[in-house]
Amino acid sequence: MYVCLCHGVTSREVAEAVADGACTSNQVAAMCGAGSDCGRCRRTVQSIIAAANDTNDSRTAECTPLHPRPTTSACTPLHGRTVAIARPA
Ligand code: FES
Repeated sequence: MYVCLCHGVTSREVAEAVADGACTSNQVAAMCGAGSDCGRCRRTVQSIIAAANDTNDSRTAECTPLHPRPTTSACTPLHGRTVAIARPA
């Protein structure tokens, strides 16, 4: 299901960003673009983060990335724009 229509990001992509260590909506936005435009999807992104934290006992409050990703990536939104997104160190 699409969570972020501005960037064409699905709930699966948001969940992957959370699994890779994002624990705030800003971090999810930095990793996959969801929530970085109009912000209408941020509540859904926050719900996905909360659900992941409720079901994953291995996560810590310090938000340690489980699988560090490269510092930049290219997201390809539905509108055909390609946006390079810097990731937190
Ligand atoms: S719907 Fe996600 S930023 Fe607009």
